Amino acid sequence: MIGLTEVLLFCISSIVILYFYLKYNFSYWRRKNIPYIKPNYIFGNLKDMVLMKKTAAYMFKDLYEHKIAANEPYVGIHIFNKPGVLIRDLELIKKVLIKDFNNFSNRFTRMNPHNDPLGSNNLFLLRNPMWRELRQKLTPVFTSGKMKQMFYLVEQIGNKLDEHLLSVPLNKQGGKAFTKELKELCALYTTDVIASVAYGLNANSMKDPNGEFRKNGRKLFNFTVGRAVDFMSFFFLPQFIPIVNATLFTKEASNFLYATIGYAMEEREKSGVTRNDLIDVLLTFKKQNYSHDMIVAQAAVFFTAGYETTSSTMSFALYELSQNQEAQQKLRREIKEELTKSNGKITYDLINSMEYLSIVIQEVLRMYPPLPFLDRECSMEDQNEYYQLDDKLRIPNGMPVYIPIYAIQRDEKYFDQPNKFIPERFLPENRDKLTYNASMPFGIGPHNCIGERLGLMQAKIGLVNFLKNHYVAPNEKTQKEMVLDPLALIIAAKGGIYCDIVRDSLL
Ligand code: HEM
Repeated sequence: MIGLTEVLLFCISSIVILYFYLKYNFSYWRRKNIPYIKPNYIFGNLKDMVLMKKTAAYMFKDLYEHKIAANEPYVGIHIFNKPGVLIRDLELIKKVLIKDFNNFSNRFTRMNPHNDPLGSNNLFLLRNPMWRELRQKLTPVFTSGKMKQMFYLVEQIGNKLDEHLLSVPLNKQGGKAFTKELKELCALYTTDVIASVAYGLNANSMKDPNGEFRKNGRKLFNFTVGRAVDFMSFFFLPQFIPIVNATLFTKEASNFLYATIGYAMEEREKSGVTRNDLIDVLLTFKKQNYSHDMIVAQAAVFFTAGYETTSSTMSFALYELSQNQEAQQKLRREIKEELTKSNGKITYDLINSMEYLSIVIQEVLRMYPPLPFLDRECSMEDQNEYYQLDDKLRIPNGMPVYIPIYAIQRDEKYFDQPNKFIPERFLPENRDKLTYNASMPFGIGPHNCIGERLGLMQAKIGLVNFLKNHYVAPNEKTQKEMVLDPLALIIAAKGGIYCDIVRDSLL
């Protein structure tokens, strides 16, 4: 029989072993003589984020600006008790993301391989060699030629956004305006765009905001405490995923996506029509005997990666325009001039010829990159080998590396008055090379955003349709200083973005 003394001895020795284990891990950077930011013995350097006091964007900004880091090209940090590297220097960032991509071709982020086949098998999360194979096959879906083909589908939805706004009763500002939460409004539009261009389906979210597409999308990215824990586990603590049973897609959302994508593929097969779009590529995957999970996962990631990022961009753009009326007038003047020339018709060339629109979006993505940091994991062919970043730092196999893009894009070293909305800084004559390189809202290198062109096109079409008959003005609920939601890992405004939407037709 085990007595109380044995139990006590076991507990004490376990605590002592754990203490020395943690102490050893937390002294990693000191032993390597690399500058590091002192960690907390439970959370490492993630305390404020884990306790949900600060969003990841702010947490990484604090680390980036920490006095120990401020003059360093990189700094050692701890992800709970795991050592990691935060890279600050632009040349070293390029080295990791582009030049030596082969040693950093996987993300550190993971999903639940057992309960979440759609989450873990998609292009964002797949690991090599599978990622490389699928990336090559999916790239043709997003060429500029394909964008031209998709344009009219997106514009159809843009037109519906305009009609939707025109149908809302005016009950503010003496019958001139109405008010809405802008992120949700933009999400209705982007959900319909993705359903149409990726699956060839009409989600009709603007008519039915509680339709299946929008309902499932909302569940994915509505950051409750539980959802915040899920996302923290995906990005920072993969060991925790099975314990909290975190899944990107709930059972219900997975069932919806399996059924929807299955239906879209069946219909396409029956029709025999070729559109060279995502569904056609998925049908070729089927012929090449990829598993059903793998096929549906690729369609699922376009849904998740495609609508939330763009609705975030559009709603932050409208927020900044409401705060900067001069910029809004300038943009609306440009829209008016172009629409007058085209007799009111929004065309592919018209969207691409608007310079001010383009720099407004670049500036919004600088101030509010939807994914505020990038992560990679060091992978060496020989697991005992190290990657030599410079003459001092050797990064071992499996170590996470972080690029804090939100912090870099708000660094006054690269951007004068970084917290101010100044689209003109992106005009070719004002934009020096440094500024250009320091803005990377779509990531850089082979793992960058595959949907960049589509994201930009849908944001532009959405904003032109929004602003052609309306403008935005701040009201009593509009945040004066933007504060980001501490629960949201994909950045979002705390409490949402409210503005008055004032009816005022340009033509
Ligand atoms: C304004 C809109 C968007 C922004 C700011 C954005 C941003 C990003 C970022 C930062 C990454 C990670 C890049 C890296 O690790 O280097 C990414 C990856 C990705 N994005 Fe986007 N995205 C946008 C729109 C879209 C759209 C419309 C789609 C598809 C319909 C899409 C699909 C993806 C996919 C599949 C990946 C993973 C690519 C890979 O790892 O190979 N994104 N995006």
